Amino acid sequence: MPRVEFNRICKTYADGTRAVVDLDLAVADREFLCVLGPSGCGKSSTLRMLAGLESISSGDLVLDGRRINDVPPQARDMAMVFENYALYPHLRVFENIAMPLVARRRPRAEIRERVQQVAETLQIVEYLRQRPQTLSGGQRQRVALGRAIVRRPKMFLMDEPLGHLEAYLRVQLRAELRRLHERLGATTIYITHDQEEAEAVSDRIAVMENGRLQQLGSLVDLLDRPINRFVAEFIGRIPINMLPARLAGDGQNLQVGAAMMPLSGAQSAKLRSGGTDPLTLGIRPEHVALSSGSAGETISGLSGRVRVIEPQGDSTVIIADTPAGRVSALVPSGCVPSAGEVIELHFAMDCAHVFGADNINLLRAARNSE
Ligand SMILES: Nc1ncnc2c1ncn2[C@@H]1O[C@H](COP(=O)(O)OP(=O)(O)OP(=O)(O)O)[C@@H](O)[C@H]1O
Ligand SMILES: [Mg+2]
Repeated sequence: MPRVEFNRICKTYADGTRAVVDLDLAVADREFLCVLGPSGCGKSSTLRMLAGLESISSGDLVLDGRRINDVPPQARDMAMVFENYALYPHLRVFENIAMPLVARRRPRAEIRERVQQVAETLQIVEYLRQRPQTLSGGQRQRVALGRAIVRRPKMFLMDEPLGHLEAYLRVQLRAELRRLHERLGATTIYITHDQEEAEAVSDRIAVMENGRLQQLGSLVDLLDRPINRFVAEFIGRIPINMLPARLAGDGQNLQVGAAMMPLSGAQSAKLRSGGTDPLTLGIRPEHVALSSGSAGETISGLSGRVRVIEPQGDSTVIIADTPAGRVSALVPSGCVPSAGEVIELHFAMDCAHVFGADNINLLRAARNSE
């Protein structure tokens, strides 16, 4: 049985803003689910409805098989951690963490033991007697997490808990969050803007846009099998190339500019049954190679002139102007052409996506079915 179910949940604010629309989502017991999406897509509204901090306009919210739409927040047994955590400045770290247990009138010895345990987990034992203002941002964030963890809630709800931290601290703390999750096993829903962070901490990622859940899966699912154009463009470290295309050669090829890209039998069948022009070819820079296109090879390349070269350590992003538009390629840093050079761009068509006029990926799961 899933721990939490959103069944056709909607949130419409008093001013008419439709923040969440028909959300269907089941979160498994002990799962770590990330919610990813652009600003304003409804992430916080979703989490706040789950926490009971925001009313639900319609639909059923189910926890452990019981409808909880009208259950007050304190009876839901969920701990929420926000980006802008508030610690009590006049209290020491120990007392800040102990707060939820004191409020529940737990015995002193138990409080001491549980705070100590949490502090050890978060590696903040040495700060227990200090006040928050003497701590760094990362240390304060650990204290805020400690206050959430010490309650041993059924669930953790985290809204960009590492949002304002420096990059190196985020990386360190996200690894700790994952370890903590493996130890405590509490179901966690975690909002972030950061794809790498989502991948590092979570079991599954839910991508939202405009109040709607677009796709649910691992980062690899989202990268390799995006359901639509939005997910394809939103996910990925370097933006995916999107080029106007049309079916040609009796559906055996995809024509991009003057170049003919050969399609597999399965791809061709999918496009012939579902595709109506105009089509858009989506190909990730990781799947674009540069080559001389020597005789004998199947030439599926598009020629272009190198405009921009962006070194990224071991690899380099090359951006070239082609008759079909700008195309970026991720190439090993050892074989980088020079600016202005004319190159041939080859697409690994087995990794291609093709979007129809309604922006749906017509080739989704093409690689699985071949
Ligand atoms: N109290 C409110 N009254 C009216 N509209 C609201 C309210 N809270 C949020 N909204 C609107 O609802 C939509 C979703 O907001 P929400 O805060 O859920 O987005 P978000 O995905 O968390 O964005 P961000 O990444 O910027 O935090 C936005 O259009 C926002 O302006
Ligand atoms: Mg938000």
